[in-house]
Amino acid sequence: MKRPRMLRRDARGQDARGGAALIDPMVPVRGSEPDAPTPAGPRPEPSSSGSDRAVLEPRAFRFRIWRLRPGDRKGHFDEFAWPGRPEATVLDALLEFRRSRDRSLVMRHSCMHASCGLCSVRVNGREALACDVRLADLPGSTIRVEPIRGQAPLADLAVDTADFHARMETVGLPLVRGTEASRAVAPEGIAAYTRFENCIECGLCLSACPVARADGAYIGPAALAAAARLAEEPRGRPLGPVLELAAEPDSVWRCRDIMECSAVCPEAVDPARLVIGLRRRLALAAVGSIFRRSSGG
Ligand code: SF4
Ligand code: FES
Repeated sequence: MKRPRMLRRDARGQDARGGAALIDPMVPVRGSEPDAPTPAGPRPEPSSSGSDRAVLEPRAFRFRIWRLRPGDRKGHFDEFAWPGRPEATVLDALLEFRRSRDRSLVMRHSCMHASCGLCSVRVNGREALACDVRLADLPGSTIRVEPIRGQAPLADLAVDTADFHARMETVGLPLVRGTEASRAVAPEGIAAYTRFENCIECGLCLSACPVARADGAYIGPAALAAAARLAEEPRGRPLGPVLELAAEPDSVWRCRDIMECSAVCPEAVDPARLVIGLRRRLALAAVGSIFRRSSGG
């Protein structure tokens, strides 16, 4: 199957899912020198919700936020002080910095509750949704925020997600669309089917995958999870093209079972498990066909 490389954008620069890069007017920014590439730190715990969102003792935090102006070849970190409210999320702090300190700070966000997948960043070197990480849950008082990897940087924390969504389009996005939902009947064994449909297309798995970072041609965990999902429940669609795609050299065979994609996924999609399952399916099909050929079947 031929893989489309880019999605179309409309005149406002919106991508196919309607996520706009919130790009403010450019304002000169003073900042520190760029750091060396930063190693991944421990995974930020997802923020708590509900009753344990108690107001905590104020605590001072120092933010180091990656800045990149459109057209810049090199970025740098700017520092911002956050004087209190450890119950706030990283996204709360970013929005406050933009509101009160620097109107040129660029980031994506929409839902504010870990549903839209737009606020993907790296916090202290680890992929996370900025709206889902409470400051109180992070170790130390210095918080480094950088864009996710594997997608072209646009400005500051915003990356161009067109390539990521093009990969998903390749598989055909087997999500329940509005037109299907009204007549959808839950199939038997639905538990096996819900895993991929939790995917919010945040791109964190692609950013965390060392194979995808080393080889841009590798289609990556989210699209392969979508392919596995389609193979599980094709809904009348022919499986041949998606299995052909999965069998390509830049597809399931590139995966090295490093499992970082599943470790960072905020929605428990477990793309690594799905990729491994798809690979097993292809391997069994190949063995079956060799056996049939050798037995003259
Ligand atoms: S599989 Fe998980 S990490 Fe990857 S895009 Fe979907 S929700 Fe995000
Ligand atoms: S703002 Fe929607 S996932 Fe964070």
